[in-house]
Amino acid sequence: MDSIIVTGGTPLSGDIPIAGAKNACLALMPATLLSEEPLTLTNAPRLSDIATMSALLRSLGSEVSLLAGGKVIAMSSHQLTSTRADYEIVRKMRASNLVLGPLLAREHQATVSLPGGCAIGARPMDIHVSALEAMGAEIELKDGYLHAVARGGLKGARFAMKFPSVGATENALMAATLARGTTVMSNVAREPEIVDLAKCLRAMGARIEGEGTDTITIEGVDRLHGATHEVVADRIELGTYMLAPVIAGGEVECLGGRLDLVEAFAEKLHDAGVEIEQTNRGVKVRRANGRVHAVDVATAPYPGFPTDLQAQMMAMLCTAEGTSHLEETIFENRFMHAPELTRMGAKIEVHGGTASVTGVERLKGAPVMATDLRASVSLILAGLAAEGETRVNRVYHLDRGYEELEAKLGGAGAKIERIRD
Ligand code: EPZ
Repeated sequence: MDSIIVTGGTPLSGDIPIAGAKNACLALMPATLLSEEPLTLTNAPRLSDIATMSALLRSLGSEVSLLAGGKVIAMSSHQLTSTRADYEIVRKMRASNLVLGPLLAREHQATVSLPGGCAIGARPMDIHVSALEAMGAEIELKDGYLHAVARGGLKGARFAMKFPSVGATENALMAATLARGTTVMSNVAREPEIVDLAKCLRAMGARIEGEGTDTITIEGVDRLHGATHEVVADRIELGTYMLAPVIAGGEVECLGGRLDLVEAFAEKLHDAGVEIEQTNRGVKVRRANGRVHAVDVATAPYPGFPTDLQAQMMAMLCTAEGTSHLEETIFENRFMHAPELTRMGAKIEVHGGTASVTGVERLKGAPVMATDLRASVSLILAGLAAEGETRVNRVYHLDRGYEELEAKLGGAGAKIERIRD
């Protein structure tokens, strides 16, 4: 398994391009199942998760071609040959469960493996199931698979989600586009990836209102047509690279980044003493002078502070002046990076869902272990500030969500290299 070595202490300078959003693309790709006509995505990120979703869609009978070096995904689901998402694919990537809604809407049946838990939490699918059952589906869990049927097709319904789940909102939104009648779903997720999905579905002929608010209304139609859609910029990749010059020193411009998608995060950086500017090319970030200040953070559904930037924020707070408190409210086990940062000399105490981080003058390089996607990049960021070398093992986690990370950070002056095992 590959590892990455980072030698710390070099201030950064230059541009870092921001790719299309992984979490938008993983919801947009299953939308191909809703139409017999081609769906093309541009500005797609080149990631192993996209390859996994492509394999899943092909296993259902879709044609999927990655063009322009993977930046363009051309899909067509003229004829589906299966409505089963197999455990072997779903266990690799839980976002595979986003085929459930579209398959049910189009084929009136679907068999989707339950993903099971992951490093950051149990992650059940009960909210997905309740939403689809409200639209008339009958869903049974058997042998680790959800077996779903919609006799006579899905029907419009009015329901509220018990928690604004991103995945459940995406599944229900796609399903409702072909349901008979109108669906009004409330307490839904408001993430920019949901807004991007609704924009794409509307380009395919869907009738949707309210995306980005906590209530979405969908008037079902008989069929959807083809479309071409540009994937929204990745706000989590942006946030990650905005932290790089804060941790290592220097100044970086994140090309194509949109500050309006990371307001809650940017506010905390501002409170910590970081200079941020939206330019016509992207987002420019630099650490003003000396050490940043400690800040308290609590993760929350959008537009709150994103849980997918919590680990990276912790890496920054490890060298801040003072003690910060980080509360993780979305996932029950998302502090796996804390003991690894402690190996680098950080002062972190975790009590349940809260971590208190007392900043130190300087971290020290050490061999550390990646446990999940965002935890692994927080270790890379910490390595940029550490004395000596940090070796991050199991970086396959990184490749799932960060396109060409070494080239992007190396291009801004970081001393970083991948060791292929
Ligand atoms: C999406 O996951 C993202 N993944 C996650 O990003 C992100 O952390 C998460 O949203 C929250 O923002 C993708 O978009 C592919 P949820 P998702 O359903 O849809 C509980 C990354 O690093 N829940 O909003 O799975 C669940 O257990 C990844 O890129 C239920 O209880 O998140 C969790 O505690 C990691 N029942 C909370 O809700 C359900 O049926 C939020 O989950 C569904 C969810």
